[in-house]
Amino acid sequence: MKITCIAGDGIGPEIVREARKVLEKIATVYGHEFEFNDILMGGCSIDAYGVPLTDEAIAAAKEADAVLMGSIGGNTSTSPWYKLEPSLRPEAGLLKLRKSLNLFANLRPAYLYPVLKDACPLKESTGDKGFDMLIMRELTGGLYFGDRKTVERDGELVAIDTLEYKESEIRRIAIKAFDVARKRRKSVISVDKANVLDSSRLWRKVVEGVAKDYPDVTLEHMLVDNCAMQLVKNPSQFDVVLTENMFGDILSDEASMITGSIGMLPSASLNDTSFGLYEPSHGSAPDIAGQNIANPIATILSAAMMLRYSFNLDKEADAIEKAVELVLEDGYRTVDLMSSGHGDELKNTSCSEMGDLIAGRITDCKN
Ligand code: IPM
Ligand code: MG
Repeated sequence: MKITCIAGDGIGPEIVREARKVLEKIATVYGHEFEFNDILMGGCSIDAYGVPLTDEAIAAAKEADAVLMGSIGGNTSTSPWYKLEPSLRPEAGLLKLRKSLNLFANLRPAYLYPVLKDACPLKESTGDKGFDMLIMRELTGGLYFGDRKTVERDGELVAIDTLEYKESEIRRIAIKAFDVARKRRKSVISVDKANVLDSSRLWRKVVEGVAKDYPDVTLEHMLVDNCAMQLVKNPSQFDVVLTENMFGDILSDEASMITGSIGMLPSASLNDTSFGLYEPSHGSAPDIAGQNIANPIATILSAAMMLRYSFNLDKEADAIEKAVELVLEDGYRTVDLMSSGHGDELKNTSCSEMGDLIAGRITDCKN
């Protein structure tokens, strides 16, 4: 299997290194061969080539069976990358990659590990109850990809971003959501702003049409502002959350934080083939880059998703997920997970130690 790696910027290289370590261990233990090659994207590509993603890099990603990514971008107030015109900034590389590979379905599972319930910032009773949801975020449409411009009108600047959705774009992501709901608890909550936006009204209509083909799955609609509130009030009500690009971006950060740390949430970006791009849902955390303190678990769990969704290696994916759980149960925590009050029993662990520990548990978790 050919895996293209994008280490990227900030903590990206550190967390991808640990995910690769775990994948290499999987290869040894299960007798697979993974061939890795690296491409540049984001700020490091700007520094090397003047653009956040070259055509050669896109071609290399297309050649692979899957892409494993760390994170891209820098401090938006201080990094010189953000003085460039918007289409040359780090994030433009990621958006271009998502679009060129047609990765329209972004799966972001947010699961509260029972052993991390003290790190959950919500009420104790909410943590005790736990939650296990999957955000299905539309990734190649909406505000992110609509026309945008800034013009002068009546002596002042006016900025315009366009939010557009085609029926076909809504239908294909809704189908993904219902398909995955069938393998879970058979519930879809579709999130929109249908009390204000036309795009949301069309979203609702199309989602309802798709739901007719899935009589075994329940569908509910929820307004996005209410959803933001429900996520902190009663997260266990959610199974599959289906939503458009921008709402999904915002809600998935919220969902990741309630799992204890934004450093826990993996993601898979898929098209209609087995190809996928796997990346943590968090960003490049430039403030802690190079210190070996970042949490590599979201990236390691993204590698597990890669095994499951692109390579059909369910047992191997299970082994990684189990290994993560065992290491957490043993009390190892990167600094983001060192919740107050329980500091004595927990062992503060560096990024590379966390990778070693998880890789070290793979043999025990072989199934
Ligand atoms: C994410 C990130 C990206 C997004 C940024 C880096 C463009 O926040 O993957 O959630 O907004 O999609
Ligand atoms: Mg985001």
